[in-house]
Amino acid sequence: MATEIKEFDGAIDKGLEGIVACTTKISSIHDSTLLYRGYTIEDLAANSTFEEVVFLLWNDRLPNKNELEQLRSDLVKNMTLSNETVALMKALPAKNAVPMDYLRTVTSSLALQDPDTRSIEFEANMRKALRLTGVMGSIVAGLGRIREGKDIVKPDPSKSIAWNFMYMLKGEEPSAKTAKMFDTCLILHADHELNCSAFAARVTTSSLADMHAAVTSAIAALKGPLHGGANEQVMKMLLQIGTLEKAETFIADAIKDKAKVMGIGHRVYKNGDPRAKILRKMSEELCAMTNQKHFYEMSARIDDMMFEKKGLMPNVDFYSATVYYCMGIPIDLYTPIFAVSRVSGWIAHILEQYSQNRIYRPRGRYLGKTGLTLGR
Ligand code: COA
Repeated sequence: MATEIKEFDGAIDKGLEGIVACTTKISSIHDSTLLYRGYTIEDLAANSTFEEVVFLLWNDRLPNKNELEQLRSDLVKNMTLSNETVALMKALPAKNAVPMDYLRTVTSSLALQDPDTRSIEFEANMRKALRLTGVMGSIVAGLGRIREGKDIVKPDPSKSIAWNFMYMLKGEEPSAKTAKMFDTCLILHADHELNCSAFAARVTTSSLADMHAAVTSAIAALKGPLHGGANEQVMKMLLQIGTLEKAETFIADAIKDKAKVMGIGHRVYKNGDPRAKILRKMSEELCAMTNQKHFYEMSARIDDMMFEKKGLMPNVDFYSATVYYCMGIPIDLYTPIFAVSRVSGWIAHILEQYSQNRIYRPRGRYLGKTGLTLGR
């Protein structure tokens, strides 16, 4: 006789929208305010640097001058790719690779070289944190070079992560303004409470897997177009639309067809994403500076239309697309760049998860068949 199955009847919240999955002291969202460790994103974007934000996220306080200098030098030391990593990067099929696949694979491989790979002790984790955060930009910039048949550029130890990223990607020194703007982009993307990739990192950490495993999971989650992948889709959409005149019809059609407009909408922010406001100003300035005003104008029109017709507002991915485009960054590197910054937030979440761990193990409501027998 078939066994009778009593189904688990806990509440279901698809997409976990109404679920608080853990306590956290890293970042928080209140209406349209985003705080990193208690500081508003506007304050940090205007008055801080990415390196200072990294220290803040990992240590729950701002660094003093010496601590900041130490962190900066530790991070930049780790920007130099090892010979083994360069050999792997050159052996992989860089030219046709989806950059997020490439970044995920190279990042995962770093565990094989890491002297602390078997340890999840705090000190070992802090060393891994520096290595991973330092090297992420070098992998992305290295991919940009290798696939074009160019030499890998070594970082300048006297400069910041933002400056060095632009330098290693393009092989020429960025202007102070570009480096500053890119640094602001890194600050804006560094953390965002329990977003999909941070949650993925925490879930992997919760099994007491190591930091490379958790960061690799996070990169995999960031790839999707509903999360980090949206910024690339926004730029492709703008290029496809082409002119301001065509933007209106394109969006009207998208709404009619119930198609998602990338870079618009957010699970948590219903009254606007504060990062998008900062990026909008940067986009306007950069599009004007590079004689590409039409991209900003199209974006602003789409932004207005989506609000008028659907009550939806832009998220961090919407204006960052034109910001990166005007900086001359290849479109398929926009999502990897998200990881160059967000690795700092993932690591803060991984450290916090280890410090208060319980394995994540929710339930699924079974709707499949029951009562079948093999009849043998
Ligand atoms: N374009 C058009 N309609 C959108 C939309 C968008 N970008 N985002 C949400 N909507 C609509 C949905 O169609 C849905 O409408 P309905 O109730 O009539 O079916 C409603 O708004 C709710 O959307 P839903 O997808 O259920 O929201 P969510 O909280 O599950 O998802 C996002 C949030 C961010 C994934 C979603 O807004 C989205 O897919 N945006 C585009 C991708 C993107 O920019 N991602 C980056 C996030 S930082």
